[in-house]
Amino acid sequence: MEQIIINGGRPLYGDVSVNGMKNAALPVICACALNEEACIIDNIPPVNDIEILLEILASMGAEVTRLTKNSVEINCKNLVPCTSPSELAVKLRGSSYLLGAEFGRFGKSSVSHPGGCSIGSRPLDLHMKAFESLGGNCCHRNGRLEVESEGRPVGNTIYFDKVSVGATANAILASVLADGTTTIDNAAREPHIVDLAVFLNACGANITGAGTSVIKVKGVEKLHGCRYSIIPDMIEAGTYMAAVAATSGKVTVRNVIPKHLEAISSKLEEAGATVTVGDDFVTVESTGKLRGISIVTQPYPGFATDMQPQFGAMLCFAEGTSDIVENIFNSRFQYMDELSKMGADIKVDSNHAVIRGGATLSGAPLVCHDLRAGAAMVIAALATKDSSVIEGIDKIERGYYNIVGKLQDLGADIQKKVSVLDEQITATM
Ligand code: UD1
Repeated sequence: MEQIIINGGRPLYGDVSVNGMKNAALPVICACALNEEACIIDNIPPVNDIEILLEILASMGAEVTRLTKNSVEINCKNLVPCTSPSELAVKLRGSSYLLGAEFGRFGKSSVSHPGGCSIGSRPLDLHMKAFESLGGNCCHRNGRLEVESEGRPVGNTIYFDKVSVGATANAILASVLADGTTTIDNAAREPHIVDLAVFLNACGANITGAGTSVIKVKGVEKLHGCRYSIIPDMIEAGTYMAAVAATSGKVTVRNVIPKHLEAISSKLEEAGATVTVGDDFVTVESTGKLRGISIVTQPYPGFATDMQPQFGAMLCFAEGTSDIVENIFNSRFQYMDELSKMGADIKVDSNHAVIRGGATLSGAPLVCHDLRAGAAMVIAALATKDSSVIEGIDKIERGYYNIVGKLQDLGADIQKKVSVLDEQITATM
């Protein structure tokens, strides 16, 4: 098992370029299952979750050809539905998008209950509600969720009681080839929902309203191949932005869509950092002297829950008190126990955390249990004038390509190392 070792307290300077967005690439890759022709997807982040999803498709009969590190050609002509291997599907939440795509094309699907980060309850009831509205019968069998209809899905109105990114994407995937028109009400408005719709329209789908809370999908007979580039990862960008604010320095984050970063930029400025916006870059400058702020996580365009841990870490270094209300996931403050080990003054009560900033943090052995929590620990360690060791780097690499190399290029003293225990085991073998 590898560790990250950070000697913190160094300002960050320079340029960093972000990869394509993992959470946009996952549904787009699954959407290829709706298509009998090949698609080329560019700007794919070469991270573990994407590799696993491509392996799942290949094992189901798709031809998956890696063109470059960031481009892949996917041909799902011979894909066999209901055959996704459980041992791979359980590793990531994104495998749930196979449900909508297989059901949409074949009228049936079966996928193991998807895994993903342990950040609280993550049911699939809204996904099932969408499939049932389109004529599917859903059931749980042998640890798999199954959906089946007589023929292809039939268009209908789907109203979501709660805004869900995953259920909105699955409703789109299931209705693209349906008979008739589907209206998705109270849809998620995240940029990755728009990306999925733009990709599918480029393949011949008829989707309007993506990016608003009412999406209309007119079913089409079939899709054709296309070449498509995934949008930049706003969460990866936001993570580097928060890291600069916490440690001090000046960094230009390139290959971004600044509009997607508005909530993050505005909160950084409120905390005392300066954000300059260009066409496809943002520059963050910070003296490291921040002030406490309040954050409330909400569906897009509100402040993203996927940025909450990174801001939580950053605010440990701000003067004054900060408040964080987490409205999306009910167990997303676990990382704060690790920050407390470093000396952070944090009180958590249910979905509300109060951080009294200004305490001097010291290095500590840290364990990350999920992706964004891991990013938070990296930020805390970078801003602490001490040495820290972070275990569980595989969790971080699920979503951040080359985070260690990118931070080294910005001047951080950060290294990846095989853990001492593993070195001893190898030595005795
Ligand atoms: C996706 C992202 C995740 C991000 C989250 C919210 C991927 C692979 N993951 O997760 O990184 O944190 O959006 O932006 O893209 N809910 C239900 N029933 C359902 C589905 C969801 O009650 O059937 C609830 C969830 O428990 C949660 C809320 O809805 O409280 C939002 O979840 P959702 O938007 O669906 O998140 P994911 O799609 O799982």
